[in-house]
Amino acid sequence: MPKFMTKSLLILISSASSTWVFADSPKEQIHYLEQSRATAHEFMQSLGRKLKSLLETADTENAIIVCKQIAPAMAADYSKDGWIVKRVSLKSRNKSMGVPDTWERRELEGFDRHHLSGEPTDELEMSAIVDEADGLWFRYLKAIPTQPMCLQCHGKAEDMPDGVKAILAHEYPNDDAINYSVGEIRGAISIKRQISAHE
Ligand code: HEC
Repeated sequence: MPKFMTKSLLILISSASSTWVFADSPKEQIHYLEQSRATAHEFMQSLGRKLKSLLETADTENAIIVCKQIAPAMAADYSKDGWIVKRVSLKSRNKSMGVPDTWERRELEGFDRHHLSGEPTDELEMSAIVDEADGLWFRYLKAIPTQPMCLQCHGKAEDMPDGVKAILAHEYPNDDAINYSVGEIRGAISIKRQISAHE
């Protein structure tokens, strides 16, 4: 059974036992998927543009604001009208925001396997209807691949300016978000909304 979607409109139901069942894709859920794709695309494009222009015009230290303030603020802006939007990672820097839940973790591990098998990661995404403790949720996860410009703050020690290393060491003593290479999955944009509550 295909677990990864690229362009297709495929909705899966994930039960607590982790078995995957194809479900009818009601119009509403297809709409959720399309909206999630649009949000993830806009989020990534906009952050990428801001980061690129700051890295071109200022010291790397000054670009920290994009990942630290602008990205969470944008996620908060998108989190309205029933939507919840955030960034998660298997190796997070900010432990209070970036740690994945069970479903996100499993799918992120799947994304990594996909990357290790040599497949491109740009279009990698996953969507499912997940049965959670409090009800059924529409879930969507879009991989964020590591680009060359990310290495200045998420790469190996030799990729990172000393000033950045000093700030990160001070602000994130438990930082796991380093040692990435280009093409690896840095994390994902996670989007969810509740479909129904359990009785
Ligand atoms: C100038 C430094 C800098 C650059 C360049 C940078 N980041 Fe970050 N990134 C950070 C910091 C600092 C955080 C922690 C933000 C916070 O406190 O929430 C972070 C957090 C993240 C997170 C949230 C998950 C986590 O680890 O906490 C993701 C995803 C992420 N970055 C992806 C990227 C990607 C993709 C790029 C390249 C397109 C990139 N970053 C470039 C500094 C940077």
